[in-house]
Amino acid sequence: MKNIKNKILVTGGAGYIGSHTCIALHEADYDMVVYDNLSNSSREAINRVSTLIGQPIDFIEGDIRDADSLRQVFAAHQFFGVIHFAGLKAVGESVAKPLMYYDNNVNGTITLLKVMAEHEVSNLVFSSSATVYGDPEVLPITEESPRSSTNPYGQSKLTVEHILEDLALSDNRWSLIPLRYFNPVGAHPSGQIGEDPNDIPNNLMPYISQVAVGKLDQLSIFGNDYPTVDGTGVRDFIHVTDLAQGHVAALNYLTQQQQGLGFLPINLGTGKGTSVLELLTAFSAVSGQNIPFRFVERRAGDIASCYASADKAQALLGWKASLSITDMCQDTWHWQSINPNGYNIA
Ligand code: NAD
Ligand code: UFG
Repeated sequence: MKNIKNKILVTGGAGYIGSHTCIALHEADYDMVVYDNLSNSSREAINRVSTLIGQPIDFIEGDIRDADSLRQVFAAHQFFGVIHFAGLKAVGESVAKPLMYYDNNVNGTITLLKVMAEHEVSNLVFSSSATVYGDPEVLPITEESPRSSTNPYGQSKLTVEHILEDLALSDNRWSLIPLRYFNPVGAHPSGQIGEDPNDIPNNLMPYISQVAVGKLDQLSIFGNDYPTVDGTGVRDFIHVTDLAQGHVAALNYLTQQQQGLGFLPINLGTGKGTSVLELLTAFSAVSGQNIPFRFVERRAGDIASCYASADKAQALLGWKASLSITDMCQDTWHWQSINPNGYNIA
């Protein structure tokens, strides 16, 4: 007999982090329903996850801003909780289209929370981001570090966090866990699913891998005069399958609780900083490719260094990232080299 604590709604489950998390959920014996409007993902990702787990995915194409559609889903299933990945994530686009970002990320989440309340589903794991720490004064960054934001995307994550805090104060049945991701990279070791940016990538790892595979000519490194080990930016890169396991650990923790936990933010990072040049060197070594680069001006809004304290995740959830920078590069390269056009197989 199935345990009702096992059924999870995964919004945005067709996306990069969501698709990897679906596999981890399946492996941990959770049942899931994926709800995604495919605005930044494809059915092919769902098909591949189905193949990898050896069974069809219960997939619904829908928008989190559509309350009636969500109601139908909640009426048809008895969920233990929701993992909420659905949202838009491009910082530059958020500056150009702030209303689109607030509508999707903030209004969408409010609609989801209302429907959860109507159906007395009170467990939520939310995709937050290290972006809520702004330009950190102290490293490593703990969950108590001050929060701020510098662009509409970051502001939308921070606003949702504030909403979750207020909601937790209003009713002690809620358990609301924002997982603050640092820099997710890598792909499933099968090479079947991975990150598939729509356009020219904004983020470092997909840019490097597209140069390595010959789709782009050279990497521009934004700044070599930061106060870091080699002058380039430092980030806490975390393998997406480690990140996926972090979601399973958060859910496992929720299933052990007898009462609402309130608002419980948790960092998901490795605790280690790696510079842009260090990542590039590691990727070159793993792929055997020469990856041309040049130094250009700093990118507006970038910070010098950012890495997590991952102590809270270990203490509370028993979770710790285990994969190395080499693993991250190897799995990215595997995915990129067998899928040079991502999911676009036509
Ligand atoms: P992604 O774009 O690959 O996945 C997001 C998914 O949500 C997509 O499949 C998209 O189609 C779906 N979606 C968007 N708006 C929706 C809506 N209104 N209704 C239903 N579905 C909708 O992004 P990702 O990298 O997998 O990120 C997942 C979450 O993690 C996002 O909320 C993102 O902001 C957050 N996050 C990502 C990173 C990162 O670097 N990838 C870092 C920190 C936080
Ligand atoms: N970088 C380059 N060249 C590129 C792309 C990036 O030199 O072509 C550098 C950046 O300057 C930075 C580092 O690589 O020093 C990492 O940049 P990313 O764009 O990969 O990642 P960010 O840390 O800037 O931002 C990411 C997500 C945000 C999220 C933030 C914190 O894109 O959405 O992590 O989680 F908010």
